[in-house]
Amino acid sequence: MSDIHVGSGLFREELLLAAIEETNSLRPDLVAIAGDLTMEGYRWEFEEAKGYLDRLECPNIVYAMGNHDAKSVGYRHFEEFFGRRTHSVTMAVPEGEAKVVTLDSTKPDLDEGEIGREYYAWLDSEFRDWNRGPRILIVHHHVLAVPGTGRDVNILLDAGDVMAMLRELKVDLVLSGHRHVPYVWSISGVRIVHSGTVSSLRVRGTMPPSYNVIEFDEENVEVKLKQPGGTEEPLASFSRKPVTTSKFHPALERFVSYEDLPF
Ligand SMILES: [Fe+2]
Ligand SMILES: [Fe+2]
Repeated sequence: MSDIHVGSGLFREELLLAAIEETNSLRPDLVAIAGDLTMEGYRWEFEEAKGYLDRLECPNIVYAMGNHDAKSVGYRHFEEFFGRRTHSVTMAVPEGEAKVVTLDSTKPDLDEGEIGREYYAWLDSEFRDWNRGPRILIVHHHVLAVPGTGRDVNILLDAGDVMAMLRELKVDLVLSGHRHVPYVWSISGVRIVHSGTVSSLRVRGTMPPSYNVIEFDEENVEVKLKQPGGTEEPLASFSRKPVTTSKFHPALERFVSYEDLPF
């Protein structure tokens, strides 16, 4: 889930409490909060968000920073209440051990995001040799454009390079928020799952507040769209094994290599 937006006049407590209660009843292995916990990055907003989110009952809860959390030097409060902005954890899952990497894509007081070249080698080292289970990345800004969101000026500034890395590193799932519209892309073997706003009326078009419930095993991945306190419907499903017919000539990889010069 993402885009809680505590502090907004359009925040709706009842939606967040419903989502938390429903999430607890699912007994999930992982709860990923993909950023924008607050509206202006103020300390009281983080405090209030923490008060709500502490009700989650899950051994593994991972928080990513959103652009709204980075306003008003809010990243200082974020770290105090929710931990490191960029980090990696492993967790036991039925098929073994998942590697979950969270990246801070924000820049203070800017709506747009960027991973930044300084993180590429670290991201590579976290995922490249991981063979004990799923590889999951959580990042607030979207790597691919989300349909039904109007004019897009906030996509990750280095989305192309990041997407090439995710393909190369065979990342299973990318969980993002930011656009307030749920959507799933499956491209070059990478599955990118965007969540809507879980608890605010900062919605676009006809899409209501929602969050995603993702179930996966060694064979399949199912993504369901849940309205807090309301209906649940299938959003997407796909095979766990990457399905791609794309072939890239290895020599061309030098164009996206972050360690070698392209020419
Ligand atoms: Fe948001
Ligand atoms: Fe955002």
